[in-house]
Amino acid sequence: MATGPTGSAASPSLDGPFLKACRREPTDVTPIWLMRQAGRYMPEYRAVRSKVSFLELCKDPALATEVTVFAAERLGVDAAILFADILLILEPLGFDLEFAKGEGPVIHNPIREGGDVDRVRAMPDPAPLGYVMDAVASIRAALNPQTPLIGFAGAPFTLACYAIEGGGSRHYEKAKAFMYRDPGAWDALMETLVDATAVYLNAQAAAGAQVLQIFDSWVGTLGPHEYRRFVQPHMRRMIAALAPGVPVIHFGTDTATLLELQRDAGGDVIGLDWRVDFGPTWDRLGPGVAVQGNLDPSVLFAPIDEIERQADRILDAAAGRPGHIFNLGHGIMPLTPVDNVLALVNHVHERSSGRPGG
Ligand code: CP3
Repeated sequence: MATGPTGSAASPSLDGPFLKACRREPTDVTPIWLMRQAGRYMPEYRAVRSKVSFLELCKDPALATEVTVFAAERLGVDAAILFADILLILEPLGFDLEFAKGEGPVIHNPIREGGDVDRVRAMPDPAPLGYVMDAVASIRAALNPQTPLIGFAGAPFTLACYAIEGGGSRHYEKAKAFMYRDPGAWDALMETLVDATAVYLNAQAAAGAQVLQIFDSWVGTLGPHEYRRFVQPHMRRMIAALAPGVPVIHFGTDTATLLELQRDAGGDVIGLDWRVDFGPTWDRLGPGVAVQGNLDPSVLFAPIDEIERQADRILDAAAGRPGHIFNLGHGIMPLTPVDNVLALVNHVHERSSGRPGG
């Protein structure tokens, strides 16, 4: 797998369309990247994964660089995203994490009662996740200087769901019961997660990540009153602790009723899933934020002319407003045809620039 020019000494560009859109500056093409752009839908990724486990891949900076850079170059997208996982931070905090075959992530020693929060370790120094910062530096050196690199972490609520549920969940009933039963222990857990995650994100930025995305994937399980009480103060404190000048993308799903509260918690760019209408939702959020997302990942299974129609619907609603980053509303699914993903990227570039080939 080719990984492009390695060891480039050129400093990364700050005036490409993705970074401009993060700053709500006009661009001559709508930038696009796709959540989970390096993943199982790509045969080249599966070839690398057939030789190592998922955690081994995350912990090997050379392999993480290969899959990150390959995906960005193969798709011709406007940003690369670090290959890692939101759950890696749970290991140095004292959780026993496994990616079990066919099961998704499992935490073997989840938090079950308030007292368990005392055993969650602080992470005042990012050294235990040094392999991630090594990957960031290695990716930055291998990547075309024109392509920005996105670093990321899980939001404290989504991480707390995994830490309490012990894995994925449909209703998050253990996490919610914990929150209501022992709000003091909940706040203590969130504070530890906020402190560790801020240290981690700032270390990624120092290592060369030019944008930081915070994944609050499961926050949509909460109502606005719950978000206000149990999440918003923690998110606000975390985002305020991040290095100034590095744009922050604040992402969630199923957030139609939470978007204003998320915006008020912080972030330069707000993620939208497909359950909201793009134009009116951006109007609701106002001109002070950029927006990213909105295409249903399932649409990538439709015929290409339908994919293009759905992309046009979003581009038409954006109407060239500065601050639009094209993306899916959630990650690419494993069975997605690569050709459909390529067609989407090309179409967004061509249509938004008015030029064939984007
Ligand atoms: O976007 C990218 O290309 C960068 C890499 C990335 C991964 N995970 C790689 C991955 C990113 C940004 C993530 C974030 C992540 N991880 C989230 C937030 C985004 C979202 O989808 O909501 C969450 C909730 C996780 C936790 C996680 N990791 C789950 C639930 C799973 C299992 C489900 C699945 O899709 O397999 C993972 C594993 C995982 N993370 C894979 C990849 C490529 C698949 C692992 C494999 O190769 O077997």
